[in-house]
Amino acid sequence: MFRLKSSLICIFMSRDLSILKDFGVKYFSKRSLSNHPGRLEDKVALITGAASGIGKATAIEFINNGAKVVIADIQDKLGHETATELGPNASFISCNVTKESDVSEAIDYAVSRHGHLDIMYNNVGISGHTPPSIVDLNLEDFDRVMNINVRGVIAGIKHASRVMIPRRSGCILCTASVTGVMGGLAPPAYSISKFAVVGMVKSAAAELCNYGIRVNCISPFAIPTAFVMDEMVMMYPGVDASKLAGIIHKSGALEGTNCDVQDIAKAALYLVSDEAKYVSGHNLVVDGGFTSFKNLTMPTPDQVVN
Ligand SMILES: NC(=O)c1ccc[n+]([C@@H]2O[C@H](COP(=O)([O-])OP(=O)(O)OC[C@H]3O[C@@H](n4cnc5c(N)ncnc54)[C@H](O)[C@@H]3O)[C@@H](O)[C@H]2O)c1
Repeated sequence: MFRLKSSLICIFMSRDLSILKDFGVKYFSKRSLSNHPGRLEDKVALITGAASGIGKATAIEFINNGAKVVIADIQDKLGHETATELGPNASFISCNVTKESDVSEAIDYAVSRHGHLDIMYNNVGISGHTPPSIVDLNLEDFDRVMNINVRGVIAGIKHASRVMIPRRSGCILCTASVTGVMGGLAPPAYSISKFAVVGMVKSAAAELCNYGIRVNCISPFAIPTAFVMDEMVMMYPGVDASKLAGIIHKSGALEGTNCDVQDIAKAALYLVSDEAKYVSGHNLVVDGGFTSFKNLTMPTPDQVVN
């Protein structure tokens, strides 16, 4: 969910994946799921919110690299379809991250199916459809966003820790957002929830380092997943989906390329692999530099008259 400065319009996210087929963006890797170089050989990963979007792309990347992946998602039908699509190294468990028992059971399912859990990726997040102005904020809506985006993540960290601490190894990853790096990019509830994700990661890393467990997060820039496209359709009724995806892409800072789900999947692969063995408490911002700078809007010398 993002907020445009000019109009304070919120961009929310959709559950409707069918829209993605239209906008000509290569959405998922078509690579073979069995031909992997093995960066995650014998690793077991659980990814929440992996029925679609960033979570699904990451599941594909992990499987391509030798992992077994449990997809935990609230969308049962889509989750089963995704697991079937990804092949024998993927499985699905129904999970609503707002229910601690669901999160706990999903982790126990991964352990009972594969013997252990190496990687927990707390990826679920919702926009919440909260208003852009804090004056109009309904605190029940605020609680709903925090329940999923913050409480859902801490439940994942808690129960992953439960099974990882005795083994004194493991890797926990969360999806934050550029909207949790700087203010003004999203309505308050979503933005606050993503700032909290970064805080949770640092807080958990402080304790879990004692057991050799690394905890990190990724902050993606805007990507036209279902989550974003639904709101784009509402904001720009009747506009072609590929044009809407183009608007999202053009909002970035880095010329000549776009942020897409594979960029996040590859960042996730790095953070959970041994290549990042000494990286913990880190927020890996994948935004083409967007949140790193502001340009001064000063006139050129010829525009200034004495
Ligand atoms: N797409 C973007 O522009 C963008 C940018 C920054 C951060 N993010 C974050 O990336 C993460 C993934 O979003 P996405 O863009 O892939 O969207 P998406 O809508 O494609 O995927 C989100 C998934 O989460 C699942 N989900 C929603 N509520 C759930 C719940 N209570 N329990 C279990 N599963 C639930 C959905 O069914 C869906 O499969 C979110 O945390 C989002 O905030 C997205």
